[in-house]
Amino acid sequence: MRRPSGVLFLETHMETIHTVVRMKQAAREARAKQRTLGLVPTMGALHEGHLSLICRAQERCSAVAVSIFVNPKQFGPGEDFKKYPRTLDEDRAALEKLQVDYLFAPTPEEIYPSGFRTEVIVQGLSDRLEGRSRPGHFQGVATVVLKLLDIVQPQSAFFGRKDAQQARIIQQMTRDLNLDAEIVVCPIVREPDGLALSSRNVFLAGDDRRAAAALYRSLDSLRREIESGERGAPRLLAALRGVIEAEPRVALDYAEIVDAETFDPVEELRKTCYALLAARVAGVRLIDNALIEQVGDSFRVTL
Ligand code: PAF
Repeated sequence: MRRPSGVLFLETHMETIHTVVRMKQAAREARAKQRTLGLVPTMGALHEGHLSLICRAQERCSAVAVSIFVNPKQFGPGEDFKKYPRTLDEDRAALEKLQVDYLFAPTPEEIYPSGFRTEVIVQGLSDRLEGRSRPGHFQGVATVVLKLLDIVQPQSAFFGRKDAQQARIIQQMTRDLNLDAEIVVCPIVREPDGLALSSRNVFLAGDDRRAAAALYRSLDSLRREIESGERGAPRLLAALRGVIEAEPRVALDYAEIVDAETFDPVEELRKTCYALLAARVAGVRLIDNALIEQVGDSFRVTL
């Protein structure tokens, strides 16, 4: 709509919601108007990776809710909960520009009122890899995602493949608890040098930021090994580790090749797997992965 100044204004209809009661009501109203609801759960500090989830949600759903909630339950003692980037005003502006329908930004007390006691544990999948390095992390993730799915009751919820173990745990939880939401896992978005986008990347600068691209380079060397016919996990892992270990600023936490369903380590590529990496650069924890899919007799590697 054109205003007298000649400046073009977009009418924004995004509603910012801070309470569970209003979010439930807004979601009910949308469903009553036959709108299909998509949910994009986030912890804010939005980047292009989040925006790609929102675009995917807008393609598939007629109304989209984005939640921004830095979930205290998924941070362990000594982790970066206090210093996790919080940029609500910028995030709200970005969401308005994308014409998102609802921003759900509750307080911790709204999500976990005093006396809150319930925790969701997805057995087996939650205590390995990220779960071993961050005890209790996936319990916190599963608990808050179940709450968000229950509050919004979306038709589809959108998650990034960068957090592959998280996405798998959420899929398992929705299956086990007969939740209606379809869990859509979307591609990783990367910087030009391959670093996977993450809200924590803002803590990296200079040589540390450059060194962080070693995670991508190591997955790329694994891709080349697979394309030249290597199938054994020990040799593939040696290729992965070799690149990381050559970069002194990067401290590897784990590198594993796991079955994409069970997250059990595999000895050789047979069906769909993930190569998963976690490392620290200047105290910042980074994760990344490659999806390795069997296509006929060969394997396709997606970074
Ligand atoms: O991936 C994240 O940002 C968080 O783990 C999530 C899914 C929003 C739950 O807090």
